[in-house]
Amino acid sequence: MQWISKCVLAHLSSSHSFSLFISFPVLISLRLHLVCITISPEKATFFFIATMNQKVVLITGCSSGIGLSLAVRIANDEKKRFMVYATMRNTAKAEALKEAAGQTLGQTLEIKQLDVCDENSIRACVDSLPMGKIDILISNAGVGMIGPVECQTIEEMKSVMDTNFFGLVRLLKVVLPNMKRRKSGHIVVISSIMGIQGILFNDIYAASKFAVEGFCESLAVQAMRFNLNMHSK
Ligand SMILES: NC(=O)c1ccc[n+]([C@@H]2O[C@H](COP(=O)([O-])OP(=O)(O)OC[C@H]3O[C@@H](n4cnc5c(N)ncnc54)[C@H](OP(=O)(O)O)[C@@H]3O)[C@@H](O)[C@H]2O)c1
Repeated sequence: MQWISKCVLAHLSSSHSFSLFISFPVLISLRLHLVCITISPEKATFFFIATMNQKVVLITGCSSGIGLSLAVRIANDEKKRFMVYATMRNTAKAEALKEAAGQTLGQTLEIKQLDVCDENSIRACVDSLPMGKIDILISNAGVGMIGPVECQTIEEMKSVMDTNFFGLVRLLKVVLPNMKRRKSGHIVVISSIMGIQGILFNDIYAASKFAVEGFCESLAVQAMRFNLNMHSK
């Protein structure tokens, strides 16, 4: 988990103006290489300059796992280059994050409510940020589903697609316009190895992550048309 965070942190430190990066397969593929070549730390001398230059990072699904770990790791950046908005659908589950965040809480890390299945909650969260601006979006929220397809209901399957795929789409519908206008931004999507290879009894989960991969690949072409820098392939 820690080295996932290190990879993403390195990626986020790049000076490029925009990137779309499908990050989980990164761990075992060429994408790790792409992360590594983008390291270019900003040079902030004084704290107030660092604060002014802080990149706004919004992460979804921070109540546990990768999202929590990433939020804490990025908020602990020793040069304080990032202001992290660690979001979760149910803020009653924030205790683990609060504990892990320690002194960064209220400094470089703030917790906000955001449910990727609820467009209003996404918009309310983004609107609550200073100038609604996000420099780095980390789409991490996701749910798993394991078992033979005959044992799963269509409603359960729709719920997986709604979170893993449409959750990303909803986020981007809200966040992309501002990034496009500013011609600046990073988008990191936590996908899965199952977005490029199916695995037994993960049929619906894999389908949701394949959808994510296809969506991002297509969107990457559009991003190029906006003269935006890309890091994924
Ligand atoms: N761990 C792995 O081995 C692995 C491998 C490949 C890919 N991934 C991907 O990595 C991402 C994070 O997974 P994880 O392993 O860290 O699992 P996790 O610990 O279960 O974390 C998933 C997070 O997503 C949140 N979430 C679920 N539905 C949401 C919604 N509608 N709106 C906002 N947040 C929601 C969960 O919140 P609640 O606490 O409220 O449920 C939780 O915070 C997922 O996209 C997953 O598919 C993980």
